[in-house]
Amino acid sequence: MSVHRTDFVVIGSGIAGLTFALRVAEQAEVVVITKKERSESNTNYAQGGIAGVMSPEDTFELHMQDTLNAGAGLCHEDAVRVLVQEGPRQIRRLIELGARFDMERDAQGNPVLALGREGGHSRNRIVHYADQTGWEIERTLLEATRYHPRVTIYEHFFALDLIIQNGECVGVWVLNTHSDKAEAFLARAVLLATGGCGQVYPHTTNPPIATGDGIGMAWRAGACIANMEFMQFHPTTLYHPGARSFLISEAVRGEGAILRLPDGTPFMEKYHPMKDLAPRDVVARAIDAETKRLGIPCVYLDITHRPEEFLRQRFPVIYSRLESVGIDMAREWIPVVPAAHYMCGGVQTDLHGRTSIPRLYAAGEVACTGVHGANRLASNSLLEALVFADRAGIHALEASWSEPAMESVPSPDRIVDQQVEPSEETDVRRRLHSVMHRKVGIVRRLASLEEAARELEQIERMAQAVVCREPHRVEAWEDWNLSITGNLIVQCALRRRESRGLHTLVDHPNRDDEHFRRDTVLCRREIG
Ligand code: FAD
Ligand code: SIN
Repeated sequence: MSVHRTDFVVIGSGIAGLTFALRVAEQAEVVVITKKERSESNTNYAQGGIAGVMSPEDTFELHMQDTLNAGAGLCHEDAVRVLVQEGPRQIRRLIELGARFDMERDAQGNPVLALGREGGHSRNRIVHYADQTGWEIERTLLEATRYHPRVTIYEHFFALDLIIQNGECVGVWVLNTHSDKAEAFLARAVLLATGGCGQVYPHTTNPPIATGDGIGMAWRAGACIANMEFMQFHPTTLYHPGARSFLISEAVRGEGAILRLPDGTPFMEKYHPMKDLAPRDVVARAIDAETKRLGIPCVYLDITHRPEEFLRQRFPVIYSRLESVGIDMAREWIPVVPAAHYMCGGVQTDLHGRTSIPRLYAAGEVACTGVHGANRLASNSLLEALVFADRAGIHALEASWSEPAMESVPSPDRIVDQQVEPSEETDVRRRLHSVMHRKVGIVRRLASLEEAARELEQIERMAQAVVCREPHRVEAWEDWNLSITGNLIVQCALRRRESRGLHTLVDHPNRDDEHFRRDTVLCRREIG
């Protein structure tokens, strides 16, 4: 069995993992483990952009206020302040590293960043690279790590479980998928940067890597997890059998697109004064309500008043993807439905990315820093990943964690609990999707959530049994992690007996600040 030793291990090569890696590599060796090719991540697909106060017409106070409004009373103000105030410096750092964001000329003819608008923002503050912002950021960060003497990236290495010794995280078990062998990576500290969990739902904007592995690993290790009831559904994904769930960026509404019913009636004015640019939870619920009310499969996004030339230049990826399924967005309305997009909750951290387990940090979508509260403001997630991964890197260096004292590494056989009942049923993902889609969607009912909890408990046991039987199959681990994630979403949802932000409970339709103006925190050690 191979045992590797390094200073820091990072699990994940998206914006959070690479930002941390670059920071700690200033003084230490860092290994980045990533389960597919290094660029494969949610980051790579981000379209709209990254929010930041980058213009004289904008202020920190306004960005804070917009973030707090979207978060529906649950954002941690200290975390939001850090996000908003440190954000612009981080965006400038990306530019220094070579990120090419779109520019325009100001009134005096000087080049300035072209800033877009998205839902919930009271100012234009979205820095972007056409509709490929994530790709450009990922390219920039990978380029910066490519020849870095202290950064080593292991592709197609799948992190299985954290190695915990005396209550501290001292490394990670990894499946080397080239050799099919488990290997141990020991380090002074570990960063979880495994991204999101959109694959817990059948319809999601997320790529296949988004299987909640970090949530599964952290939960098994005993870390506290928070606010999992707040799964953000993006309002506008393509409704088409040829490209289901392809994201149609909110930036399209930022450029003037209007949501319409099949007969052409715009409907967002009924739901919010910001109409089509209302916060995302409001728009997704409005579409859900209209499709149910009229018994229609989708609504339509209309940007046909903008010239083709402009649309092709501003949204090249969206334009060509739509063309590939026979839709010309300059002339036709785009059929859209909501789909699972972003997990606002996750592994609970403080302002330095520290989790409840010493030496274990988390950053990016896997983490719950307190920034997003009950609903994330558009384009705040890339920003959050940048700001808090960098802070975690600085803390990890300053903490001077010692080398792990482990003399012997526990056998990888102990990763899985061999006592689990074997199960014949292996179609874990299909069953999980069915429960999550039918019972844990945009609008929820207590009775359905309770049924879902019972079914998910069984599914999780079944998934664990499959891992015991096939411990070297990546998909088996992903299914286990997803079923843990599904369970945590439902457990958090059951504890929140109110409607707030992304959590709408028919049985308790109002916000209840007296009892629920707090995070939902689950700690395995406490709940057994
Ligand atoms: P990711 O970028 O997802 O990286 C996770 C990494 O972990 C990947 O490399 C993955 O392979 C690896 N990994 C996972 N599990 C394992 C494992 N077990 N072992 C080894 N490696 C593992 N946000 C914005 O702010 N603005 C936007 O415009 C925007 N647009 C979006 C558009 C789309 C289509 C999607 C899906 C998301 C969008 N988001 C946007 C959200 C944003 O992209 C993500 O929240 C953010 O990129 C997450 O970064 P991350 O580094 O935390 O995770
Ligand atoms: C989008 O481009 O609509 C996605 C933006 C985000 O998720 O913040």
